[in-house]
Amino acid sequence: MKSILVTGGCGFIGSHTCLSLLEKGYYLFVVDSCVNSSDQVLRKLKNLSIINFKLKYLKGDLRDISFLRRVFEEAKKCNKPISSVIHFAGLKSISESIRYPLEYWDNNVIGSINLFKIMEEFSCRTIVFSSSACIYGLTNQTFINEECEVKPTNPYGQTKVTIEKILKDLFVNSLSEWKILCLRYFNPVGAHHSGEIGEDPIGVPNNLFPYISQVAIKRRKELDVFGSDWKTIDGTGVRDYIHIMDLAEAHLAALEYLFDKKKNFLVLNIGTGIGTSVLELVKIFEKTNNCKIPYKLKMRRTGDVGSVIADNKKALAILNWSPKRNLEDICKDGWNWQKNNPYGFQK
Ligand SMILES: NC(=O)c1ccc[n+]([C@@H]2O[C@H](COP(=O)([O-])OP(=O)(O)OC[C@H]3O[C@@H](n4cnc5c(N)ncnc54)[C@H](O)[C@@H]3O)[C@@H](O)[C@H]2O)c1
Repeated sequence: MKSILVTGGCGFIGSHTCLSLLEKGYYLFVVDSCVNSSDQVLRKLKNLSIINFKLKYLKGDLRDISFLRRVFEEAKKCNKPISSVIHFAGLKSISESIRYPLEYWDNNVIGSINLFKIMEEFSCRTIVFSSSACIYGLTNQTFINEECEVKPTNPYGQTKVTIEKILKDLFVNSLSEWKILCLRYFNPVGAHHSGEIGEDPIGVPNNLFPYISQVAIKRRKELDVFGSDWKTIDGTGVRDYIHIMDLAEAHLAALEYLFDKKKNFLVLNIGTGIGTSVLELVKIFEKTNNCKIPYKLKMRRTGDVGSVIADNKKALAILNWSPKRNLEDICKDGWNWQKNNPYGFQK
């Protein structure tokens, strides 16, 4: 079975994807600096995939190119040369990126360039890259397809566009054959149904779903709902929420799609194509989990938009994949994780 390098494998999306890959029998090398995660998640992965736990964790930072070289060398030495990479590692907070742009450019872009250099050095040229729907910027269009203008409004989004461009350059200009898939995620939420792994934000959550869960567990008093005068079903913002295990499975499908290809470069939206308002999500969470989520309606935040929903037709047509879980599954599984682990991996 092939060996896959998963960068950022201790993080939210990385850890759930590792589980899907382990279940399929892949040998994994996980690289993470744990700047935004805990390696405790690996213990949980081991418990969840007893038979197939073929994973080697190497703690380190992608900006350290000699560390990366050692990872590829070690894989080669133990006769498990890395065939392909799923590249999750990166900083992901929009607000933080506005405050600390240099840190974001340094971490996300320099780290990625190092990774691509070492991949080239070891003739490993198959990669699935974590991009983001936030690169589409402010648009009045509700359904976003891959042809929509790319115009990010913050440094985080800029770093994602830049990395996509570097990958495109490699595809177009490199003499060797790169196989590249950039997945532009919409809003990954929920947790593995076991309640053993899930999203564990450090500090105040930037995203809606972990905020709702932390209100439910009484770590936070109430939810602030920003904007109640959008042209949506109830005035609150509408987004496309995708279950984390559907997203994990999209990575598996993306990787296996690339295995069969020669030279390739593709960008795909990964979402459900279904929009849900903030208050709709709150109601479904309350009903599914029999709890109350107190909330307060607040003014719109600058830079927000009313509705953002994925046009996911291209991904559905190209990958042998479609999202299978609904909002009730998201709320049930997300709550299961939160109530079993009120303080995430710390306790
Ligand atoms: N979660 C989302 O809503 C979302 C949406 C769109 C895109 N993405 C992208 O998907 C990827 C994964 O997101 P996530 O939600 O799992 O985030 P996460 O923060 O949970 O995971 C990212 C992981 O990368 C690690 N990391 C960061 N910089 C590193 C470096 N230089 N070297 C080694 N490890 C490093 C972190 O410690 C963390 O474990 C990120 O690139 C993110 O930008 C996430």
